Amino acid sequence: MEAYDLLVIGAGPGGYVAAIRAAQLGMRVGVVEKEKALGGTCLRVGCIPSKALLETTERIYEVKKGLIGARVQGLEVDLPALLAHKDKVVQANAQGIEFLFKKNGIIRHLGRARFLSDRKVLVEETGEELSARYFLIATGSAPLIPPWAEVDGKRVVTSTEALSFPEVPGRLIVVGGGVIGLELGVVWHRLGAEVLILEYLDRILPTLDAELSRAAEKVFRKEGLEIRTGVKVKAVRPEGRGARVELEGGEVLTADRVLLAVGRRPYTEGLDLERAGLATDEKGRIPVDEHLRTRVPHIYAVGDVVPGPMLAHKASEEGIAAVEHMAKGYGHVDYLAIPSVVYTHPEVAGVGYTEEELKAKGIPYKVGRFPYSASGRARAMGETEGFVKVLAHAKTDRILGVHGIGARVGDVLAEAALAIFFKASAEDLGRAPHAHPSLSEILKEAALAAWEKAIHL
Ligand code: NAI
Repeated sequence: MEAYDLLVIGAGPGGYVAAIRAAQLGMRVGVVEKEKALGGTCLRVGCIPSKALLETTERIYEVKKGLIGARVQGLEVDLPALLAHKDKVVQANAQGIEFLFKKNGIIRHLGRARFLSDRKVLVEETGEELSARYFLIATGSAPLIPPWAEVDGKRVVTSTEALSFPEVPGRLIVVGGGVIGLELGVVWHRLGAEVLILEYLDRILPTLDAELSRAAEKVFRKEGLEIRTGVKVKAVRPEGRGARVELEGGEVLTADRVLLAVGRRPYTEGLDLERAGLATDEKGRIPVDEHLRTRVPHIYAVGDVVPGPMLAHKASEEGIAAVEHMAKGYGHVDYLAIPSVVYTHPEVAGVGYTEEELKAKGIPYKVGRFPYSASGRARAMGETEGFVKVLAHAKTDRILGVHGIGARVGDVLAEAALAIFFKASAEDLGRAPHAHPSLSEILKEAALAAWEKAIHL
């Protein structure tokens, strides 16, 4: 029986990063992963392949819309080449993790892990029984398929299949105006599909700052996406050569394909958690304390399978904090500094508190805004749509949240995450030198506007 210091279950961004960090800290580490490729949902069928499609289709779309200073004729989309690029990117990333595992002496077990007790795990496919001093559950999440939806993987699909449609659908209905719905809806729209997004709430991207949601809706509508908010989908199923969507109130819509993107659920199937003395909460998540320990102190859990936003980088930070707690007795995640980015064009991003959250908490705040249209660099790029806003404490000037929509705003906000992490004030950020002409000046100016006054407004 193999005995490890740490056995990690799941090799996604939570598990594989934790495994590497644990090995760096001198632990003997094993990882059980059921998929052949390492990297989890994010790398195989999530963040990475969707970004490969978003990056490539953005360029195609730019050419379609018309380039500044050039006329292009006879543009032809080569979908197989586009999909092949995406697959190559995924493969290269998965191989990268394999290499890192070898480099760090991490032992990989291919198969499904099942707890036999709180000290022992069975790998179903190989029959190996593994024991360890610590366990880390990082099994992630799976698409949420409500009972009213019939997914056949062809006409009614989840995000996984929507990464590889064999042809551009004539009409695509996306159920759910969240991050997945928007990112993948945009990809197929750029390639020529007529796309309709159906959102139950009164705004798309409902977890973001409401001002961003509204701005994003306007921009995407202008781009040609059809968006309907405040509509509840009651039933979805394949029908004939396409699919049928039924709304509350009786309206029926049809499309060539339907993408179901109404959220994800924690994935704990087959783990036999109860054998380890564990249970899930009402949402299927594994409860953990502030050190990411479950109620069995030598079993930790991180990422999508525990409460909090389902973001790859959140999982990685938690993975690191968990193994540092095991090895050194301390480990910490600054949840307020975790950015969230929607990789559409323009990008939509936020870090820290939203205005709605600050209001609900009764925290007094001031707002500094700066538009892309007032940035020399943004004008030069032909990217004048969007803005960045900095929310700072009304009395202390501490930055509490930064939100933006605009070209590459996700990259611009990396600095805002650092500012929040370092507990910087709007004055700090506004006084710090920024390269001219760069998009980062938009953030600097928004910080100046929150503190006293922007220069270029
Ligand atoms: P989501 O929770 O972001 O959005 C689902 C949307 O579906 C919500 O707006 C909800 O109101 C709507 N909805 C639910 N039931 C509905 C119904 N019956 N009719 C119409 N609308 C309905 O979930 P999504 O987009 O599936 O993403 C899953 C997770 O993956 C999220 O936590 C997201 O943060 C994460 N993710 C993050 C990405 C990023 O950071 N760039 C990219 C993709 C996913």
